[in-house]
Amino acid sequence: MMKANIAVLVSGGGTNLQAILDAQEAGSLKSGQVVLVVSDRAGAYALERARKAGVPGKEINKKACGGQAAFEAQLEAALTEAKADLIILAGFLSILSEDFTRRHDHRILNIHPSLIPSFCGAGYYGLKVHEAALARGVKVTGATVHFVNEIPDGGEIIAQKAVEIQPGDTAETLQRRVMEQAEWILLPQAAEEVSARILRERAENAG
Ligand code: GAR
Repeated sequence: MMKANIAVLVSGGGTNLQAILDAQEAGSLKSGQVVLVVSDRAGAYALERARKAGVPGKEINKKACGGQAAFEAQLEAALTEAKADLIILAGFLSILSEDFTRRHDHRILNIHPSLIPSFCGAGYYGLKVHEAALARGVKVTGATVHFVNEIPDGGEIIAQKAVEIQPGDTAETLQRRVMEQAEWILLPQAAEEVSARILRERAENAG
């Protein structure tokens, strides 16, 4: 069966990448396959996860590239070589330029660990998001999968899931619950949904 080629971009531990790889292994992600994992920094454990799954991994060290344009040129070349149809940002902490996001309109997904439009945008990433939610005293938070456009966390929303905050939560316990109850479920589901859509569109255009 034809599959959409997925490139996953990462910066850190890669538990969301793992959820995608596990869904592929389990067969719930069946319309797409991960063909490339790219880290924008050195030492990301996510690359180790890619290696263990037998998926090609590549480090494109943004700092060493000497600028956004040079970084994106290398990234674009890797995506072209891998024939990527869909790009998934899974804990990827670099902001992509308007040029890049326009070229890949409705072909880039991101997972964000809050219910957008709360606690999102520039500066809200990783534990900082959960620290802000706890500081504000909200009782419910969650995760959002959305398409990526030129506005950080501003693209069309695909799926959201709410997660309750519990008394005594720290940023770390809350991050873990949001991952377990929302992120690791939503992201593989959205990967399947958008991959299936890409295949349908391809079939329609061919016919
Ligand atoms: C995840 O919680 C993800 O939602 C978040 O970083 C973490 C990465 O964990 N992303 C952002 O904050 C993006 N603004 P992981 O490397 O284990 O998947």
